[in-house]
Amino acid sequence: MSRLTVKLGKLVLPNPVMLASGILSHGSLLEKALREGAGAVVTKSLTLKGRKGYETPVVVGVEEGLVNAVGLANPGYKDFLKNDLQMIKEKNRVIVSIAGDGPDEFVKIASSAEDAGIAAVELNLSCPHVKKHGLEIGKDPKLVRRIVKDTRGVLKIPVHVKMGFCDELIRSSLVAEDAGADAVVAINTLPAMVIDVYSRKPILSRICGGLSGPAIHPIALRCVYELYRELSIPVIGCGGVKDWQTATEFLLAGAKAVQVGSAVAIKGLKVFSEITEGLAKYLKEYGFESVDILMGSLEGKK
Ligand SMILES: Cc1cc2nc3c(=O)[nH]c(=O)nc-3n(C[C@H](O)[C@H](O)[C@H](O)COP(=O)(O)O)c2cc1C
Repeated sequence: MSRLTVKLGKLVLPNPVMLASGILSHGSLLEKALREGAGAVVTKSLTLKGRKGYETPVVVGVEEGLVNAVGLANPGYKDFLKNDLQMIKEKNRVIVSIAGDGPDEFVKIASSAEDAGIAAVELNLSCPHVKKHGLEIGKDPKLVRRIVKDTRGVLKIPVHVKMGFCDELIRSSLVAEDAGADAVVAINTLPAMVIDVYSRKPILSRICGGLSGPAIHPIALRCVYELYRELSIPVIGCGGVKDWQTATEFLLAGAKAVQVGSAVAIKGLKVFSEITEGLAKYLKEYGFESVDILMGSLEGKK
């Protein structure tokens, strides 16, 4: 076991740096991300039926980030499990993200994904730009309880819950923990929009989308810090990780692992080895025997 090995409940990963959901969709690219050093990969959020997504433009670069409204484009869970998943050798390092439109869809997709041999599921309760699949779920603690309880009830593998930044973040996360969630992932993109002043039009075809990248990192960091203090289950930090320093900030704030999204789109897959090598060096230099010891070891916390 190296210093970077991390135990996330039942999951044992070679390092705590995962690919975030939605950045790479095709099975061959997920396999490549694992080969390039990701500790685990999270799939694009899968829906019951395939979705084409919205018309282009669906992603636009802004200072320090991206704004996207892709519209949960995916081939549907059956196609993904049959085709894309089969391109990945180590299915025990694949986390399937699910975007259901209610408890029954989450349960159906999660059960099939478990049967296909994956490591864990991540319930997307926080997409900011698709109605019935998004933030409104995470904002509704009652619905969170039902979705998590029903899904947990039928699965043996870990159930992770992906939350967005909202007033109910802590309350909904506590409810998710109480309903049996094994980890909380925080955060998804933040509601945003971009306007082109020359055409006087919004740039994204859907007008509004979600902001990701370095711009949201300090917000995500605070969410992780607060969740770590409230929850007993592991927290996975997501939002603006671009190098080993931003990843380490999440670990110090209390995250057990981190996810990288926009930086993969911007820097390419080499970002995984860059982060893990930098983190390993930091652990050694500062005398931390493992990532676990580093976790939450923030000096001067109140
Ligand atoms: C183009 C794009 C597509 C995304 N699709 C999904 C998705 O399908 N499901 C999901 O839970 N999050 C999705 N996300 C959100 C990311 O997983 C992540 O939570 C967010 O981008 C913050 O991380 P980052 O700053 O490292 O990008 C998407 C993000 C981007 C940029």
